[in-house]
Amino acid sequence: MKIAINGLAIWQSLFLSKLTSVRLAVDATAGNGYDTLFLAAHTQPDCRIWALDIQAQALEKTKTRLTEAHLEDKVFLCRHSHAELLKVIPEPPDCIVFNLGYLPGGDHTMTTQAATTLPALGQALQLLRPGGWCSVMMYPGHEAGKMERELLLTWASSLERTSASVSHWHMVNHQEGAPELLLLEKPC
Ligand SMILES: C[S@@+](CC[C@H](N)C(=O)[O-])C[C@H]1O[C@@H](n2cnc3c(N)ncnc32)[C@H](O)[C@@H]1O
Repeated sequence: MKIAINGLAIWQSLFLSKLTSVRLAVDATAGNGYDTLFLAAHTQPDCRIWALDIQAQALEKTKTRLTEAHLEDKVFLCRHSHAELLKVIPEPPDCIVFNLGYLPGGDHTMTTQAATTLPALGQALQLLRPGGWCSVMMYPGHEAGKMERELLLTWASSLERTSASVSHWHMVNHQEGAPELLLLEKPC
């Protein structure tokens, strides 16, 4: 069954309204490159995008996708963990996108893990410019993703509103394990 309203559609439509004024964006999990392409395609030509992944295969796929769309010059592909965001990203980004889990069609053991996702999100909040946004797609349909979701929600719920305003979107009549979305907004 195909549905139009899901976590992906929600962050993309929210971010669309803002992407034309974005100077620097980060895709913290490049994967197959769809999210990087979305950011590259909807930002101004002089916007710069950093796309991180720990797998060479993911960065290759992202590069191919960007090259096909003639958008590769806007994007720095970076084989680093997002737990190193503070080291890698040179200045405060306007938005950061996380799409957690494993590379579809790739090695499922190379999935994101709470132990690195949590510090990465802490760094993302530190890095974001005031007024910046961060989206996090979570996939609790597998064991590591379930644990990651729980820990992320606990962390996000405990954040002071002065450091971020957080919302959590999820399906209410789908099976357990359906993707969920966290949105964090750093106050101005
Ligand atoms: C669901 S995929 C991302 C999908 C992607 N955004 C897209 O549009 O196709 C998750 C990706 O996170 C990557 N990943 C896992 N741990 C990571 C880490 N610590 N830092 C950066 N990327 C990581 C995996 O290699 C995988 O490619």
